[in-house]
Amino acid sequence: MLAQGGKIDTIEREEDRVKEAKENFKKAGVQDIITIYEGDAVEILPKLNTKYDAVFIDAAKGKYPFFLEQSLRLLNENGIIFADNILYKGYVMSDYNKHKQRTAVRNLREYIAIATNREGLSTKILEVGDGLAITKLKGQ
Ligand SMILES: C[S@@+](CC[C@H](N)C(=O)[O-])C[C@H]1O[C@@H](n2cnc3c(N)ncnc32)[C@H](O)[C@@H]1O
Repeated sequence: MLAQGGKIDTIEREEDRVKEAKENFKKAGVQDIITIYEGDAVEILPKLNTKYDAVFIDAAKGKYPFFLEQSLRLLNENGIIFADNILYKGYVMSDYNKHKQRTAVRNLREYIAIATNREGLSTKILEVGDGLAITKLKGQ
């Protein structure tokens, strides 16, 4: 639930999806509270300096550790990070090692390792859907 006066920023690199999203925002009457940045999140995130209460990661799995570091940089001290698909069809917790998914699996494992082992972070992983990691700063 978005607080009154709250805003949402989102990033999408596919032109047709940006167009569709903008149309949907308009239909839903939320075009003034959602800003969509068009381009690669790897390039856009380092340029952002807004502080966020919540970050939702649901994009290229091979970039999850990078997205985590950027999210931590942009997070308010009471903020929370949700990372979807963190268990990737169970591959992340098994010895699955097929070439096609290997990079994604390695990066998702790295995300989990940082989120669960780094001092100052508290992370729970829910086995719902494709796996959801929820990370907060410890002591919050
Ligand atoms: C799984 S979909 C997101 C679905 C959305 N959360 C929803 O519930 O409707 C992932 C989206 O992220 C976009 N994406 C993936 N990697 C990206 C990146 N590096 N930068 C920007 N967008 C990216 C894809 O084009 C795709 O539209």
